[in-house]
Amino acid sequence: MAGRLGVPLKLLLLLLLLTLDSSQALRICSFNVLSFGEAKIGNSRAMDVIVKVISRCDIMLLMEIKDSQNIICPTLTKMLNGKSRKGTKDYNCIISNRLGRKAYKEQYAFLYRENVVSVKKSYHYHDAQDGDEDVFSREPFVVWFHSPKTAVRDFVIIPLHTTPETSVREIDELFDVYMDVKRRWKPENFIFMGDFNAGCSYVPKKSWKDIRLRMDPKFVWLIADNVDTTVKESTKCAYDRIVVQGQKINSSIVPDSAKTFDFRKAYRLTEEEALRISDHFPVEFELQPGESFTNFVRSFVPQKKRGRKKSQRG
Ligand SMILES: *[C@@H]1O[C@H](CO)[C@@H](O)[C@H](O)[C@H]1NC(C)=O
Repeated sequence: MAGRLGVPLKLLLLLLLLTLDSSQALRICSFNVLSFGEAKIGNSRAMDVIVKVISRCDIMLLMEIKDSQNIICPTLTKMLNGKSRKGTKDYNCIISNRLGRKAYKEQYAFLYRENVVSVKKSYHYHDAQDGDEDVFSREPFVVWFHSPKTAVRDFVIIPLHTTPETSVREIDELFDVYMDVKRRWKPENFIFMGDFNAGCSYVPKKSWKDIRLRMDPKFVWLIADNVDTTVKESTKCAYDRIVVQGQKINSSIVPDSAKTFDFRKAYRLTEEEALRISDHFPVEFELQPGESFTNFVRSFVPQKKRGRKKSQRG
């Protein structure tokens, strides 16, 4: 009798522990939000979609931000956190300086879930190598994240939005940014992502040989050349990319998780409606969760299930 009662009780306890200690994959995304400034902030339909797109991600890189009034981060975090349970502040935001050679400026911003990741350090790449000065239109705003709940505990994200006509040189120069970050912080895991304009006429096939980040096999390109990251039906270009470097991060990517997010299809928008939000789809991938009680349990629960199925069939 006591034994029979004991089994459901143990199961109940197990379920309780599973809910308290749920570990999930970490989704990292990158999105060029076409000319994201005051006009778009005032467009509530566009903002609703943008907030929905961000809320799917644990870390979201936004590009093409034009925020001279410093309102993008406060507005987005307020909208994102307003959607979560009362009192919880899910999202935080870190934004770069206003970057650009002349009057035209853009910023990079990262929205990230504070209960899963934190920012360790950040800096603006100093684009002034001897004989190779000022390559980037918008120099990468490098951010080092700490991620205690994933298999890979920390990683650096190097964002880039290139000027289309100089994409080959800018993507190649990411190799120098990589060396600079390595010297500075000695991190082991890297993510390069953004709108590299790495397709169609801007990066023709014959130019890949001039791009170190592509020729060196230790850099792993997650979004392939035949992917379409553009919203327009008439174009098919792999402009937006994700590249990783580091044994640990490469081996902890969730299989088949690197892809575009077709927000047009997901939210049933017409091409015209979607283009009012952006001409790019976001790209994303996931990192596997780390060791936890849940994963410890998972490591033997599936075996039990398999056993049961077998005995049912037999
Ligand atoms: C990255 O991971 C993939 C899949 O596990 C593997 O095939 C590839 O060799 C790895 N590349 C590097 C550079 O570690």
